[in-house]
Amino acid sequence: MARVALVTGGTRGIGAAISKALKEAGYNVAANYAGNDEAAAKFTEETGIATYKWSVADYDACAEGIARVEADLGPVDVLVNNAGITRDAPFHKMTREQWAQVMDTNLSGIFNMTHPLWNGMRERKFGRVINISSINGQKGQFGQVNYSAAKAGDIGFTKALAQEGARAGITVNAIAPGYIGTEMVMAVPEKVREAIISTIPVGRLGEPEEIARAVVFLASDEAGFVTGSTMTVNGGQYLA
Ligand code: CAA
Repeated sequence: MARVALVTGGTRGIGAAISKALKEAGYNVAANYAGNDEAAAKFTEETGIATYKWSVADYDACAEGIARVEADLGPVDVLVNNAGITRDAPFHKMTREQWAQVMDTNLSGIFNMTHPLWNGMRERKFGRVINISSINGQKGQFGQVNYSAAKAGDIGFTKALAQEGARAGITVNAIAPGYIGTEMVMAVPEKVREAIISTIPVGRLGEPEEIARAVVFLASDEAGFVTGSTMTVNGGQYLA
């Protein structure tokens, strides 16, 4: 039977590419999203992948949403914690709200999603948890104290939980994408974006599919010896 994969933020940007690549690789995919109904409807129309709406920042909503996915598709084998937001501002202008929103979604979100699924994965002796961190969690980024802290936290979460999952057949890995050509990066002021691209040795932004291929590898049965790692996919911009 096909394995079941759940992708958060799975209808747009990197997440949409991940959902599609997992479907192509034979998984039964559920794509979660938080707000954009129109994008989700279009995504389902184009791909045939079912979408489920809840916020990863809300623990109870995650538990309920996961229960709906599992009722429809069966137990989740592969969880891709991809949902993430930016609220960029230099620290002296950053509000508590901007800090809290990013921490709630980008860091607590991976706890909220993984925790309700963990016992099931332990009982079934198989699981794949893949956390989408960021180059900016590795190197820090001007204007992103909140985002860099959350994304660095995702890597710490990955390393600790990998040790707990290992004996139960569950791998926990992170991917640290560099600057990928999505709406999130296109929202960066053009001048700043051009300056960033000039620091990427490969000389271009990444493609969402280049992250999706890394996810498909880490999700596979064959990747069982890879756990606790952070896979860097950034065109050589930062060598962690
Ligand atoms: N290093 C040093 N100084 C910098 C700087 C940098 N990287 N970026 C901006 N500054 C300086 C500016 O030159 C300016 O200096 P002066 O006052 O002396 O002119 C000062 O900081 C303030 O700049 P602004 O007036 O532009 O401040 P702002 O409040 O309007 O915005 C900002 C600042 C929000 C940080 C804006 O520069 C920005 O959006 N930067 C991009 C941040 C970024 O890379 N975000 C990544 C988003 S994509 C993503 O997150 C995906 C992923 O995982 C990779």
